[in-house]
Amino acid sequence: MTQFVVETDDLVMAYPQQRGWRSLFKSLPKKVVLDRINTTINRGEIFGVAGPNGAGKTTLVKILSTLVIPFSGSARVLGLDVVEDSLAVRRRIGVVYGDERSFFWRLSGFENLLFYASLYGLSGKEARRRVSQLLELVGLQEHADLRMHHYSSGMKQRTAIARGLLSDPELLIMDEPTRTVDPLAAMELRALVKERVIDSRRTVILATNDMGEAEQLCDRVAFISHGKIQMVGNLEDLRGAFQLDEIHHVVVSGLQRSSFGFLRDLVSSIEVVALDTGQHQLELRTAPGGPAVPVVVRRIVEEGGDIWSCSRKQLSMDEIFAMAVERGRQTAAEEVLV
Ligand SMILES: Nc1ncnc2c1ncn2[C@@H]1O[C@H](COP(=O)(O)OP(=O)(O)O)[C@@H](O)[C@H]1O
Ligand SMILES: [Mg+2]
Repeated sequence: MTQFVVETDDLVMAYPQQRGWRSLFKSLPKKVVLDRINTTINRGEIFGVAGPNGAGKTTLVKILSTLVIPFSGSARVLGLDVVEDSLAVRRRIGVVYGDERSFFWRLSGFENLLFYASLYGLSGKEARRRVSQLLELVGLQEHADLRMHHYSSGMKQRTAIARGLLSDPELLIMDEPTRTVDPLAAMELRALVKERVIDSRRTVILATNDMGEAEQLCDRVAFISHGKIQMVGNLEDLRGAFQLDEIHHVVVSGLQRSSFGFLRDLVSSIEVVALDTGQHQLELRTAPGGPAVPVVVRRIVEEGGDIWSCSRKQLSMDEIFAMAVERGRQTAAEEVLV
């Protein structure tokens, strides 16, 4: 058996272009929305699928949860083919969607979960025990008997997470679980996921367009834009992929703006900004790992300057995100003819 929980091989998804009734009779060019996705996800990993709206995140997680059939290529989940063995896959995964519309609003959270438990073959005492346990896990035990119609969107999402966990799945797939909720509820949901949903036995796939969320929750992130994985890795890998130079900010006093010329030979580039305090902030770009920063600091002091702070500037996840989207735009998929 394969060691990977998910393994995709040149996965392609293409949708027919919307061109009215004529498209019923004639093959039209299709729009490629996932372009040869090759990725693997390890057991126990929290794997982020990040990217802007329309990137193809939902399409990818729908293929992995067997809801749509890929155009070409293949995907295996828990060692099973998502097309050939779709029922077996479905039995072993849990899925949580961001826009939760599949509950019965006139029934309580408890009743809803009991209904879905029955679909998983749980019944009687066992089902009730499992549902109570999960409602407690997601912090809804006090609202268990309230009709879901009265639930806030955060509470609905909690119920959706509880439903995703009913079968105690080895793999839980969440598609933008915080999309429809307010920022405070989103924060609480992230804490819930981090503290209670993630455990070492479970692999989680989290699709999100919120970089902070990916940063907070995921071990590795695949950035998708324009249907392609632009890069995949942990946060350090992703930062490294774009940050060619190291950037340091140094705040200096006691030297004139015009006198920083002596630094030019030591760094790749230097920018000087005068601060209100009379100090200067230098932005230094240097080749990674070189001795430049200590050398620069010593030289400044030798020249009679005082150093107030020296800090390394890291690319933020939002900056990485913007760069990945730009890279995706430059290599966007072509239409395929069928
Ligand atoms: N059923 C569909 N028919 C045609 N196009 C679709 C369909 N579903 C999604 N798309 C298109 O596929 C692209 C990717 O969509 P999606 O996977 O929902 O992206 P994301 O979840 O990252 O926002 C979008 O351009 C979207 O318009
Ligand atoms: Mg989506």
